[in-house]
Amino acid sequence: ILMTEASPIPAAKLHLPDAQTVTAVQHWTDRLFSFRVTRPQSLRFRSGEFVMIGLMGDNGKPLLRAYSIASPAWDDELEFYSIKVPDGPLTSKLQHIQVGDEIILRSKPVGTLVHDALLPGKRLWFLATGTGLAPFASLMREPETYEKYDQVIMMHTCREVAELEYGKRLVEGLKDDPLIGELVADKLIYYPTTTREPFHHMGRVTDNLSSGKVFADLGLPPMNPAEDRAMVCGSLAFNVDVKAILEGFGLREGANSEPQEFVVEKAFVGDGI
Ligand code: FAD
Ligand code: A2P
Repeated sequence: ILMTEASPIPAAKLHLPDAQTVTAVQHWTDRLFSFRVTRPQSLRFRSGEFVMIGLMGDNGKPLLRAYSIASPAWDDELEFYSIKVPDGPLTSKLQHIQVGDEIILRSKPVGTLVHDALLPGKRLWFLATGTGLAPFASLMREPETYEKYDQVIMMHTCREVAELEYGKRLVEGLKDDPLIGELVADKLIYYPTTTREPFHHMGRVTDNLSSGKVFADLGLPPMNPAEDRAMVCGSLAFNVDVKAILEGFGLREGANSEPQEFVVEKAFVGDGI
């Protein structure tokens, strides 16, 4: 079980605007946690999109931040995968939420990491660092991902092994999923790496792509615009570096309005912590 079960006795309701109730919370490291909330019946989104969520601030105004929805579009609940920024206005508080608490959720999903923004292809690469995994936690659980591609490669890099755990558990759980378990077993390739702690595979996503190591390790041809598609989500520096590498392979950046071979979204604004 990935998440703790919901308590039968909910905490006192705060009657927030656009309130949703927390149903599960799991802490992965001192800097990472995930949680699930009820899903508003009216909320429709495409796997990979993000919404604004938050808490009521001390000044009585909602304190909202962008968050990728980590659960797939078909799920009854919504899942989020979050950083804990020690002095962060939102996450210094959000990290303490408990089952039964309420959060604010603004139901206007948007984002570029959606299937519609890519031209058809053979292989789909998900390239992420840190909490940039979140949109792919959604897309890896989305049947359309496996209907559209022969192979799906999830490259996720973190500094330390423990930071990979949420993604690792998610991928392991997928193989037993009654809806997409069989599809996933044949098609999903998980390629996690660390950069600052020994692990069976190491190195930055960028280095493993430009050196060709990941292609050699997986027995795949180098990326090419005829077959490969990519979705990128990490820090600004990561996104900029990956974009240059993908363009070096001949892939072009697309958008909802103009599908091409890859799409990029920021996992957060700022330099990281
Ligand atoms: P802020 O004042 O927002 O941030 C303080 C500083 O912490 C930032 O300047 C930055 O240096 C660092 N920081 C913020 N977020 C992160 C992060 N995720 N990883 C590493 N360093 C960070 N955050 C998530 O945890 N999960 C998500 O799924 C997620 N999706 C996002 C999607 C989009 C499109 C964008 C733009 C941001 C997303 N974020 C996500 C970041 C999120 O919006 C907040 O920045 C984060 O929750 C911290 O909020 P805060 O108020 O505590 O600190
Ligand atoms: P490294 O340890 O070599 O800096 P962070 O915790 O700073 O957000 O980084 C998350 C992961 O992303 C780390 O493994 C880090 O590697 C890697 N990373 C940071 N910046 C880049 C970049 N510009 N290109 C590729 N990988 C990066």
